[in-house]
Amino acid sequence: MTNIPGKVSDPSVWARFWSDQSTFDDEFLRHNVNVFLENSREVMEFSAQDRVLDIGCGPGHLLEILAPKVDKVCGVDVSSKYVQQCRSRLIRHHNAQVEQLGEDYTDLSILGDERFNKIICLSVIQYYQEKDDVRRLMAAVKRVAAPGARFLIADILVDTGLLEDIYSVLRSAFRDRALLKTVRFLWRAQFGNYARLRRKTGLLSFSGEELSKMAQDENLKSELIVKRLTVNHNRSHILIWI
Ligand SMILES: C[S@@+](CC[C@H](N)C(=O)[O-])C[C@H]1O[C@@H](n2cnc3c(N)ncnc32)[C@H](O)[C@@H]1O
Repeated sequence: MTNIPGKVSDPSVWARFWSDQSTFDDEFLRHNVNVFLENSREVMEFSAQDRVLDIGCGPGHLLEILAPKVDKVCGVDVSSKYVQQCRSRLIRHHNAQVEQLGEDYTDLSILGDERFNKIICLSVIQYYQEKDDVRRLMAAVKRVAAPGARFLIADILVDTGLLEDIYSVLRSAFRDRALLKTVRFLWRAQFGNYARLRRKTGLLSFSGEELSKMAQDENLKSELIVKRLTVNHNRSHILIWI
């Protein structure tokens, strides 16, 4: 079992993985974020007035790079380990906020009255427990979004197998001149917990049509981004206008 149409078989497994994993190291996450920022420049058009929310922020590489360039950065994540790492990474940035998500990880009420105009969810929804969580996320994002905000869900797993994913990441590694760090990452991913969990528990995959329909049901306009935004050619991305 690799990708699951509607639900993963044991929802708590991925949550536990992110609190105690060593597959995705800082070197690889930083590289992925750099590729993403470079490739998504025209899609996100970051500027000094932006208030950026990163959902599933991990250890905070994206926010660390953006913090000096925008008005405010805020990260939320389910993993307490990552929340701590992200807070430490951003400690010198007075425009940064990091919050831990609760059991209902689509609930963004911890952000209170804060409003954001650039919202990113990068390489995250494949670890959700069920597809309908994305629908709930869209509804929650509407409540914390400023009018006209952009919400980019990026690096979405489409229905491919592990081998196709590996090939796709290697292809980009050549182009991005990042072969060594990518091979190191793939080795850990292949022979550590990640591949075992992926086989046993599965990851959620989505078609562009499904995500567009969810956005439409929330009365949101959306656009599928066809260019490569991350290190994996096989991923899809959807830009939602709030
Ligand atoms: C592959 S990492 C990506 C981290 C970060 N977005 C980046 O690109 O560097 C996946 C992240 O999703 C987070 N995550 C997993 N399930 C989540 C959930 N249900 N809600 C929010 N974040 C979640 C993990 O804790 C982890 O930080």
